[in-house]
Amino acid sequence: MGYFITFEGVEGCGKTTQIKLLSEHLSGRGISTTLTREPGGCPIADKIRSILLDAENRALSPLAELMLYAAARAQHVTEVIAPALTAGKIVLCDRFCDATLAYQSFGRGIDRDVIDTLNRQACQGMVPNLTVLVDCDPRIGLERARRRIEASSGPREERFELEALAFHQRVRDGYRSLADAEPDRFVIIDGSDTIEAIFTAISTQVLTRIPEALRAVC
Ligand SMILES: Nc1ncnc2c1ncn2[C@@H]1O[C@H](COP(=O)(O)OP(=O)(O)OP(=O)(O)O)[C@@H](O)[C@H]1O
Ligand SMILES: [Mg+2]
Repeated sequence: MGYFITFEGVEGCGKTTQIKLLSEHLSGRGISTTLTREPGGCPIADKIRSILLDAENRALSPLAELMLYAAARAQHVTEVIAPALTAGKIVLCDRFCDATLAYQSFGRGIDRDVIDTLNRQACQGMVPNLTVLVDCDPRIGLERARRRIEASSGPREERFELEALAFHQRVRDGYRSLADAEPDRFVIIDGSDTIEAIFTAISTQVLTRIPEALRAVC
């Protein structure tokens, strides 16, 4: 089996910025990775992503939203994550099952048992070895995400950015309680710092944890 690293945190905390930097850094050291993201990561799941993040879909019910995330994850794990880990690769995934607990359980209030059951089915035994929680005040993250969306010419994936601040605060608190419950799997990084300082903290943590055998063979 390979090594599975996920990145989590509120909107705009810097997950995508940092996961790309980490992938480049590892590749510069001769360590190749499979870099992927959720929701999405393969063509069918990317179609589900566009439904989930489209701000026009205000009427999407919390339960339908949860099940779309589970469907996208089931496809992504089957097509991308499980084959890569079985082949012994290091997989870097931008959001994964903890996001569903943080957003749909802590954020939306859906029963945790329902989400645990769906996550178990969708993940098919693929549990992250390491989860990097980029923790920051959602006001900072939302401001960064808003600027990024305004500067981008792509689709406006902002359905969650438009949620109330209180929702994002529950998501942040949810992530922190997930991290507190599994201190061996999570590392918490201060996402309010500069891009460079955050990257130094993440790369130090990751490099000490990737098993020696994978560092050598990749
Ligand atoms: N530490 C930082 N300080 C200032 N700006 C940052 C920092 N990290 C990222 N940014 C900028 O903030 C914006 C959001 O960053 P990024 O897209 O990496 O966040 P994200 O966590 O992936 O967001 P989302 O949850 O929406 O996917 C980007 O424009 C990025 O360049
Ligand atoms: Mg992102």
